[in-house]
Amino acid sequence: MKRSRINALINEAKYLFASAGFKLPPFAYWTPEQWKPKGHEVDEIRENALGWDVTDFGSGDFDRTGLLLFTIRNGNYHHPDSYPKPYAEKIMVVKENQVTPYHFHWLKREDIINRGGGELVLELYRATKDEKLSDEPFSVSIDGTEKKCMPGERISLKPGESICLEPFVYHKFYGGAGRGTVVVGEVSAVNDDTTDNRFLDAPGRFPEIEEDEPPVHLLCNEYPAVA
Ligand SMILES: [Fe+2]
Repeated sequence: MKRSRINALINEAKYLFASAGFKLPPFAYWTPEQWKPKGHEVDEIRENALGWDVTDFGSGDFDRTGLLLFTIRNGNYHHPDSYPKPYAEKIMVVKENQVTPYHFHWLKREDIINRGGGELVLELYRATKDEKLSDEPFSVSIDGTEKKCMPGERISLKPGESICLEPFVYHKFYGGAGRGTVVVGEVSAVNDDTTDNRFLDAPGRFPEIEEDEPPVHLLCNEYPAVA
C-alpha cells in the first residue's frame, strides 16, 4: 500500500470515529517526531501493538479486501508478568463490501460491535479439527441471545448490535451494500496477530508499504525501538 493512502485512510478514520462520538486516546495523535524521544515509559504501547493498523491482508486491493483498525488496549500472551491484562479493545472502519477474509482465533474470544454508521455483515462457519470450514450447524450469542447458525450463515448487525465470536469460529465480515461505512468495535481476550490468527487463505496480515510521502502517524508495528 502507498503511505499516502494509509495517511488518507487514518485521517478519514479520525473523522468517522469522531462522528460516531468515539474519542481516541492521546497516543492516536502522536507524530513520528513526537515518538522519537519516547523511552520505556511507553513500552505498553510499543510491545502490545497499540495504535493504528491499516492492512490489505496482502491482497493489493484495500477497498475490496482490507481493514483499518486502532487498538486501544491489549495484553500480551508472551509477557504476562509485564502485561497481565486478559483483555483487548479495538475500534475499526469497515467500508461497504470491504471484506476482512475468513479467519478464526485459537485463543481469542471477541465481541464484534456495530458502533455506528451502516450495517455490518458477518458470514460464519465452525472450524473442523483440521481447520477447514465445517458443514455442521452451531450456536452464537448475539447481544445475550442464543442464535442457531447454519454453516456460512450471513448475520447482519445494525448500530448498537454485537455478536460474540468464540474461538474456532471462522468469520469474515464486510459493510452491507448501500448502507454506508461502519464504525466497528471489538472487545476481546488478548489480541496476538503473530500467533493467534488462522486465516483460511489470506496471504498476509501486514501490508508492504511504498513510502511516497512521510507518515502522518506510525503504524503499530513501526514504533522506534528503545535501547
Ligand atoms: Fe477475528
